[in-house]
Amino acid sequence: MATDKTYRPSTNFSSQAHVSSMEDYHSLNQRAVETPEEFWADFAERNLHWFSKWSKVLEWKPPFAKWFLDATTNLSYNAIDRHLTTSRKNKAAIIWEGEPGDTQTITYQELHRRVCRFANVLKGLGCKTGERAILYMPMVPELPIAMLACARLGITHSVVFGGFSAEALKTRILDLDAKIVITADGGYRRGKEVALKPAVDEALQDCPGVEHCIVYRRTHSDIAMQPERDHDWAELEADASEICPAEELDSEHPLYVLYTSGTTGKPKGIVHTTGGYQTQVRATMDWVFDIKDEDTYWCAADIGWVTGHSYIVYGPLLAGATTVIYEGAPDHPQPDRFWRLIEKYRVNVFYTSPTAIRAFIKFGDEWPKKHDLSSLRLLGSVGEPINPAAWDWYHNIIGGTRCPIIDTWWQTETGSVMLSPIPGATPTKPGSATFPLPGIVADVVTMDGSSVESGGEGFLVIKKPWPSMMRTIWGDPERFRQQYWSQIPGIYFTGDAARRDSDGYIWVLGRVDDVMNVSGHRLSTAELESSLVRHEAVAEAAVIGKPHEVTGQAVVAFVTPKKGWEADEALASELREWVANEIGKFARPEQIRFSDGLPKTRSGKIMRRLLREIVTSDKVTGDITTLEDLSVIERLAGQQEDD
Ligand code: PRX
Repeated sequence: MATDKTYRPSTNFSSQAHVSSMEDYHSLNQRAVETPEEFWADFAERNLHWFSKWSKVLEWKPPFAKWFLDATTNLSYNAIDRHLTTSRKNKAAIIWEGEPGDTQTITYQELHRRVCRFANVLKGLGCKTGERAILYMPMVPELPIAMLACARLGITHSVVFGGFSAEALKTRILDLDAKIVITADGGYRRGKEVALKPAVDEALQDCPGVEHCIVYRRTHSDIAMQPERDHDWAELEADASEICPAEELDSEHPLYVLYTSGTTGKPKGIVHTTGGYQTQVRATMDWVFDIKDEDTYWCAADIGWVTGHSYIVYGPLLAGATTVIYEGAPDHPQPDRFWRLIEKYRVNVFYTSPTAIRAFIKFGDEWPKKHDLSSLRLLGSVGEPINPAAWDWYHNIIGGTRCPIIDTWWQTETGSVMLSPIPGATPTKPGSATFPLPGIVADVVTMDGSSVESGGEGFLVIKKPWPSMMRTIWGDPERFRQQYWSQIPGIYFTGDAARRDSDGYIWVLGRVDDVMNVSGHRLSTAELESSLVRHEAVAEAAVIGKPHEVTGQAVVAFVTPKKGWEADEALASELREWVANEIGKFARPEQIRFSDGLPKTRSGKIMRRLLREIVTSDKVTGDITTLEDLSVIERLAGQQEDD
């Protein structure tokens, strides 16, 4: 991973940047670290609207933080209304393109009208501030519109990625006790319809608390509509008023809950609130994305993940930027769709994942080379470590060697970017997320909490609260404390390992817990394992991540079938489908490997390290004296992969 190559931002870039030198970065950081409350209050006051001011900037009762206490504000107001009295009123807020090629350009004024109308639809159905809504939608403008309408009323939203199954959807609805589900008939991906409503129907069979389901018609396919419960979006909206004042919400009002995988089988509902979140997301638009009014900005993630929340919807709109949203697959109808979009909309700032970049490398250079990408000025990467080869390709082929690359490290839990080069200031090293952003007190430490020396490896931690930090796990504050704040008492444990090099650069190495990162999506080994053992043929299962040249990691499942079940290809493919149905297609194991037993310690803990060695090298080294059944290892190691 390490390389000594360093790239400095050009004078051209630096001279126009929000932060244009390392001296500027250091002075910003010094102020933010030494006087965080003054620093963030000053930023919040200058860049956002508050209906009433805070009595105190920060209350820190570890691990619980409150920012901008007693202030009232509204994120939807800040993302839309605030721009309507400026020259941005008729500026494009959203440029949307559907996979089939249909397009919409929505100005801030038009967005305001559409958000207000939909907020009135929600009100009309009796939805109230403090209730929860589940959003299970394709990447159509109605998704950000629904999010902003919820934010406007103080209805806490939870977007469930469209790739999740009915089962996963159900768990989230129940955990949140949501009364309303907002969905669509389906969306388009690779030329086909991805149906959503049937999964909602299945999930709602076990969710009696859901009173209303609003269905946006995207594909006009045949769907079942249950009278009383199901409503057509367009019909409800037809007589909705365009006037809907934003609620004056407490700064700590929960804006959204986004589920992510942890180390157990149960996903965690990460809670983000309003005032602190909007402040830091807004700040990172300047520092990291160097956003300018004239920019066309495109984050190619899915709104179903945190990247989409913070950097497709909330961040760019808070900054008054133009955000591009694309519905479909990068290779449809051909592998140049992204480059076609960049050329068509003259995109200036582009943000994607290393998995996408590696897939593009495989498609071949001829695809980007067909297009004029000269509008690009800044490139970003997120979700997983970017390997230097992918970095170089991104830099040379997409960025034409002129665009700085920002390798942004952050998590669902952190809400906004935490470690990243500042594009006009930081000399970058391919593969390193470089330094913490202003005010972020990150460190690489050993298990006892002491900082590692330069050149050393350890755990990446954050030592001070930050405005966009998660506030808790929905319904489980104890799990929040235990999972993030007790590994090294009093400081935030990210779950990532990192190295600090002799220049102080931080290199994020990957997860140290049982969380995998497949295509930049987090998957929990425990969640996959509990899904597998729910299948009638499975006695026990262990799941690990195997290095994969495109997706970073791929899911490999070791499975011990119950007596009487044939360990054959038919069962393997049945189990793959089972997981796809239980969690989602993106979680489908690449390999199922059968065995008579799994390697365990005497206390019964599965030795994943050994399984990892088996899939990477097909042999086992190191200490195996604690194994319960040594012969298991030989059988597993000798077995051929099933595909
Ligand atoms: O392991 C880190 C990896 O993704 C994890 C967070 O995943 P999630 O909550 O789904 O959010 C992804 C998008 C913000 C982290 O714990 N990760 C994210 N960005 C990077 C990264 N690993 C290395 N380098 C990055 N730039």
